[in-house]
Amino acid sequence: MSRSPCKMTKPKGRPIQLCSLFSHFNLFHATMYNLVKPLLFSLAPENAHHFTVKSLKRSLTIPGARQIIQQLYGFEHPNLKRNLLGLTFQNPVGLAAGFDKDGQYINEMSSLGFGFIEVGTVTPKPQSGNPQPRLFRLPDDDALINRMGFNNQGVDALVEQLKKERPEGIIIGGNIGKNKVTPNEQAADDYTYTFDALFPYVDYFVVNVSSPNTPNLRSLQEKEPLTHLLKSLQARNQAQEQPKPMLLKIAPDLTFEQINEVIEIVEEVELEGIIATNTTISREQLKTTHDTITTIGNGGLSGAPLRERATAVIRYIRERAKKDLVIIGVGGITTAEDALEKIEAGADLVQVYTGLVYRGPVLVKDIKKALV
Ligand code: FNR
Repeated sequence: MSRSPCKMTKPKGRPIQLCSLFSHFNLFHATMYNLVKPLLFSLAPENAHHFTVKSLKRSLTIPGARQIIQQLYGFEHPNLKRNLLGLTFQNPVGLAAGFDKDGQYINEMSSLGFGFIEVGTVTPKPQSGNPQPRLFRLPDDDALINRMGFNNQGVDALVEQLKKERPEGIIIGGNIGKNKVTPNEQAADDYTYTFDALFPYVDYFVVNVSSPNTPNLRSLQEKEPLTHLLKSLQARNQAQEQPKPMLLKIAPDLTFEQINEVIEIVEEVELEGIIATNTTISREQLKTTHDTITTIGNGGLSGAPLRERATAVIRYIRERAKKDLVIIGVGGITTAEDALEKIEAGADLVQVYTGLVYRGPVLVKDIKKALV
C-alpha cells in the first residue's frame, strides 16, 4: 500500500490521517481560502487569476502534492456518475469556459475534482482581447464584470496543449468562437475552421454565440445566421466517422420568444444540448454603487446576481424542449444549494466560474456532497 502524503504520526500514539480528518470539516476549507482570499483580492483580478493557476501548477510539481490536494478537495461517489452525450462524466460539476481558455491548466484544474473542463473560447487565430483592465470584482455582489474579448492563443496552440498527456477520466469540452476581425457574414468559416482543428482532441463542442464582448457576436443568435452557422457545423460533424456532441451556449438576455426560436433551431439541426447561460449585460439589482458600475463600463456580469435569471432560462428550456436535450446549467452558482437549484430546474450538468473566485475550490466538493 502506498504511503499517504498526509500521514502524520502523533509524538506518542497511533498514526492519524490529518488531511482526511480535516477534509471532513468544510470550515477548514473555508478558513483556508479565507486566508488566501485577501492576498488574491489585493491583486488586480486578472493578475490574481494568473497567480492562482500558476501557483497551483507549481505546487503540483512537489512530490505528493497532488494527493494532498485530492484528499482535501476530492470527493468521489458512484451516484455522481452521469452518462450523457454518449460520454461518462465522473461527476456533473464542470469548469465553465473562459477560465482555461488555452487549455494550459487541465491537469491542475482536474486535481480540484471537476468532472469536466471546458477549454476556450478559442478562435482560429490568436488574439490579445480588449485592453486591460478588463476584469473587475464586485465583492458586495459576489460578482465579476469582464470584457476580456476572447483573448486566446489560437486553436493551433490549444491543440498542442491537448496533445500533451491528459488526466484520466476527465471530459474535455471545446468552446469555439470567431476572431474579432472576422465579419459576421464569414463567422461560419471561423467556427468550422476551429471545429475541424479541434475535432480529434475534445469530447464535446460548444458553439459560443453569446459573449457580449465581441462586437455583434450575439446577433449570431438570431434565426437566420444561427441556422446557417449550426447547419454548417453539423454538416462537418456528421461527415466524421464518429460525430461529437455539440451544444449551443446562449445569453441570459434573450427574451423567452427568442429562446423559443433557439430551441426550434437546435432541435431542427439536431444539436445535443444547450448551455444556459453566458454572462449578462443587465446591471439590475446590484448592491455595488451605480458610480462604480458606471466607472467599470461595458462587459458581461457573472456570479450571484446572474443566478436567478440563468435558472429561469434553464427551467424554461426544460419545459419546452424535447426530453433528451441535454442542459448544462451555469450562472451564479456560489453555493451547493445554487447548484441543486439549477438541477431541479432541469440542468443535467452544472458549471462554475465566479463562485470559485469567491468561495474557493471547496465549492466543487460542496456541490458533489450535496448532490449525493
Ligand atoms: C467567462 N465566460 C466565458 N464563456 C464562454 O463561453 N467563453 C469565454 O471565453 C468566457 N470567458 C469568460 C471570462 C471570464 C473572466 C468570466 C468571468 C466568464 C462565461 C462563463 O463561462 C459563465 O458562463 C459565466 O461566467 C456564468 O457563470 P458564473 O461565472 O456565474 O459561474
